[in-house]
Amino acid sequence: MKPSKRKFKLASLSTIVVLALCSVMTDAGEKQQDRAPTAKVPSIAGAEYVGQKMCAVCHVDQGREFSKTAHARIATFELQVARRECESCHGPGSLHIQGRGDTRKILKFGMALDPELFGRGDPSKIIHYSGLPPAEKANTNAYCLSCHNSRSHFDWAGSRHDQANVGCVDCHYPMRATEKLLIKPEPDLCLDCHAQRRAQLSYPSHHPILEGKIKCTDCHNQHGSGSRAMLRQENVSQLCFQCHPEKEGPFTFEHPPVTEDCTICHEPHGTIANNLKKQEEPFLCMQCHPGHQSQLPALKDVLDSREKRQTFYTKCTQCHSTLHGTDLPSTTGLGRFTR
Ligand code: HEC
Ligand code: HEC
Ligand code: HEC
Ligand code: HEC
Ligand code: HEC
Ligand code: HEC
Ligand code: HEC
Ligand code: HEC
Ligand code: HEC
Ligand code: HEC
Repeated sequence: MKPSKRKFKLASLSTIVVLALCSVMTDAGEKQQDRAPTAKVPSIAGAEYVGQKMCAVCHVDQGREFSKTAHARIATFELQVARRECESCHGPGSLHIQGRGDTRKILKFGMALDPELFGRGDPSKIIHYSGLPPAEKANTNAYCLSCHNSRSHFDWAGSRHDQANVGCVDCHYPMRATEKLLIKPEPDLCLDCHAQRRAQLSYPSHHPILEGKIKCTDCHNQHGSGSRAMLRQENVSQLCFQCHPEKEGPFTFEHPPVTEDCTICHEPHGTIANNLKKQEEPFLCMQCHPGHQSQLPALKDVLDSREKRQTFYTKCTQCHSTLHGTDLPSTTGLGRFTR
């Protein structure tokens, strides 16, 4: 076979591989037609695909380590093509090799693309990043998202991380075979940037995150979500019910703030007050309740004694122990959360 013909074959196969990889990324059964990929996989003007074996001649360590990652496994076993693993991210590498490792002619992440090499204005030749800030990271993100356009990444664009210029490669490093290719495991991954949360997690009351019982990403979608604070559920209460189902009604007697939003009274990361309460009782309750106003017959005994009256203003939940909601009426047949 003549060399030129062989090159043509490789180039057209590359297109098929990229398309195939992209369709593999789509969650099974999900409708994707109306969701175009956010970026074209870039190419390097004039360069051809050469295959992983060629790259590994010089990049021995990267070749060995990469072959253990999900990206390599997908390409070789599921799609049954053994080449282009490296180049599906770094772009076609023939010119890079001809230049004996010319670093201007291979794609690397976090670099601004050189329009002369990548073809200004030709969307098939450049990473398409219109609408994103022309920052270096946007290039990388668009790049990764060209394949990772499934549901779990739909909300990336405009997410707080995207806005703050946090990129895929701030958390993932595809060249090493770590769990989910993370640069380090949770929670340190998150806490290195979110130092305030680390402080909260050592308060007397805290969700057991440092203890390894739950993860930041059980509650947050680091890739973005439609909800506030990138929460995994539509609203706070739905999120909390996942693990605290006994607090979910409907109850015969409901407490309005509880059904509205758990974070009215709780701070989910950590607090000084016990039970993740934003404030100690009775102050927590007295934000909304002035105290015992009415002369209820049931309380006559308590109300008559000055000393006993003070017990009202210690720990409200000593008597109102079912403030999250209950099916049982209180002594006077009302919904006052006393049992
Ligand atoms: C002939 C040897 C050779 C081959 C084959 C080769 N490279 Fe390189 N590559 C180099 C050298 C030399 C460097 C520069 C290393 C440095 O500066 O530390 C390099 C650098 C790189 C870099 C880092 C660029 C940077 O500036 O940090 C990437 C990415 C890369 N190569 C990818 C590839 C890929 C993908 C292939 C296969 C298509 C490949 N290389 C094939 C020699 C080679
Ligand atoms: C899923 C995308 C992806 C694939 C596939 C991939 N790389 Fe990388 N590569 C990266 C990222 C991200 C970095 C780190 C950021 C940077 O410098 O570009 C990187 C960095 C590198 C570097 C710079 C030195 C280093 O280790 O950080 C070399 C060399 C390299 N890759 C070669 C390869 C080779 C060889 C292959 C195939 C065996 C390959 N890459 C496959 C994404 C990829
Ligand atoms: C050419 C398409 C393609 C590109 C480009 C690509 N990926 Fe992937 N990636 C895949 C496929 C296919 C899988 C395997 C999917 C699966 O197992 O569900 C995967 C898996 C992953 C995983 C999961 C790894 C694991 O162990 O479960 C991470 C994380 C990931 N990619 C991050 C990245 C990042 C970051 C980039 C950009 C630097 C990137 N990918 C670029 C196709 C791609
Ligand atoms: C703030 C850190 C962070 C950023 C930024 C980030 N990721 Fe992730 N990613 C994670 C963590 C943590 C996991 C593992 C979550 C888990 O264990 O469930 C993950 C999992 C994944 C997975 C495998 C599971 C899945 O959701 O499909 C893929 C693929 C992935 N990330 C791709 C990307 C891409 C593409 C980008 C950029 C658009 C990106 N990530 C940005 C932290 C991050
Ligand atoms: C039990 C669920 C849960 C866990 C686990 C959790 N969070 Fe949160 N986080 C929330 C909720 C709910 C909010 C929204 C709070 C609000 O708006 O009052 C939030 C808010 C945030 C905010 C935004 C705060 C602001 O003021 O805008 C950041 C940043 C954050 N969390 C980071 C983290 C990090 C990092 C971890 C892991 C160390 C983590 N979270 C673990 C539930 C959780
Ligand atoms: C490279 C630094 C970095 C890493 C790593 C990182 N974040 Fe962030 N994160 C930021 C920045 C910057 C912001 C925007 C400023 C802010 O709200 O603090 C942000 C914002 C957030 C918010 C607030 C969202 C909102 O709508 O207010 C949440 C929640 C969050 N990150 C969770 C996480 C989780 C979970 C992880 C680990 C999987 C993580 N972050 C890892 C830098 C990082
Ligand atoms: C992913 C599971 C999970 C989610 C989601 C979750 N929690 Fe928890 N929560 C836990 C675990 C685990 C504990 C510790 C229980 C234990 O140690 O017995 C806990 C404990 C608590 C405690 C008692 C803390 C203490 O100091 O004893 C409160 C209060 C609490 N959660 C409130 C919430 C609120 C409010 C939300 C929603 C913002 C929420 N939780 C979401 C798992 C979760
Ligand atoms: C009106 C304030 C308030 C609201 C709103 C609220 N809580 Fe609480 N929660 C408390 C108080 C006070 C305690 C401590 C009770 C005690 O000490 O006996 C507590 C304790 C808890 C505990 C730990 C003790 C236990 O009963 O298991 C969990 C879990 C909890 N709340 C979950 C939730 C969830 C989930 C929501 C939202 C659906 C919520 N809370 C809304 C005030 C509130
Ligand atoms: C964010 C405001 C808010 C907070 C904080 C709050 N509540 Fe309430 N509470 C309400 C509202 C609103 C009602 C319903 C009042 C009504 O139906 O007239 C209510 C009703 C009640 C009732 C039944 C009263 C009646 O007349 O039937 C009791 C008892 C009660 N709360 C106790 C508490 C306790 C104890 C706390 C502290 C742990 C607390 N509440 C914190 C807003 C709050
Ligand atoms: C010594 C037990 C006890 C303590 C402590 C207590 N309550 Fe009560 N509370 C009751 C009883 C009993 C009723 C009447 C129940 C009924 O009518 O069935 C009541 C009724 C109420 C009512 C509805 C009637 C009214 O008087 O407004 C509210 C609101 C209320 N409590 C809030 C609180 C708050 C807030 C605290 C803490 C500052 C608190 N309670 C502390 C026993 C207590």
